[in-house]
Amino acid sequence: MFIEEVRDMYDAEQRLTKALPKLAEESTTPELKAAFESHLGETETHITRLEQIFGMFDRKAQTDTCKGMKGIISEGEDILDEDTDPWIKDAAIIAAAQKAEHYEIAAYGTLRAWARILGRQDVEQLVEFTLEEEKKADEKLNGIASRLNARAASVRG
Ligand SMILES: [Fe+2]
Repeated sequence: MFIEEVRDMYDAEQRLTKALPKLAEESTTPELKAAFESHLGETETHITRLEQIFGMFDRKAQTDTCKGMKGIISEGEDILDEDTDPWIKDAAIIAAAQKAEHYEIAAYGTLRAWARILGRQDVEQLVEFTLEEEKKADEKLNGIASRLNARAASVRG
């Protein structure tokens, strides 16, 4: 079950490396663009850590379609297709990105707990690094949203 969940996240993170550049490109707020670009680098590290975890369990790195992340990204893409005010679009992009972050935080929280119960402190530590980066990325988005949402809400139409 642990490995199945790792495969799921291996797929989810790879989907995110494709989605994040699109989100950066479609964002208007420079701070938001920068946040997505820096999280792309972190996401690549998350993929490397998952590959390390496969190795620590003597398993080959392989993906299992993450239907959850697929759905979240697909919903996000619908927002990108909408022709709306740039502030509103940025607010909607943040909402979509935070859904992805929360999904990851939930999944890595589970993996950390399972690694602990399996007596694999080495794995628990690696998952912890990723979990902390996901939480920081989410907090950064909270900060950007709090500045941006007021502007977005002032747009009427
Ligand atoms: Fe990640």
